[in-house]
Amino acid sequence: MYVCVCQAVTDREIHQAARNGAKTLGDLRRDLRVSVDCGRCASCARKCLKSAIQDSQEDLQLLVLA
Ligand code: FES
Repeated sequence: MYVCVCQAVTDREIHQAARNGAKTLGDLRRDLRVSVDCGRCASCARKCLKSAIQDSQEDLQLLVLA
């Protein structure tokens, strides 16, 4: 699903950015150019990043428990 239409950035790319260490919308701006044009995606991008970070943390916990 496209999160940022202006820059054609998908939720998958945001999840990958989170796995690579992105923690803030500023990180997404720097790495993927999310929200650098109209800015209408900022709120959705933040939610997607938060979800991606939580997923990454859960994956790490599962690895530790395995
Ligand atoms: S939709 Fe992301 S900058 Fe316009």
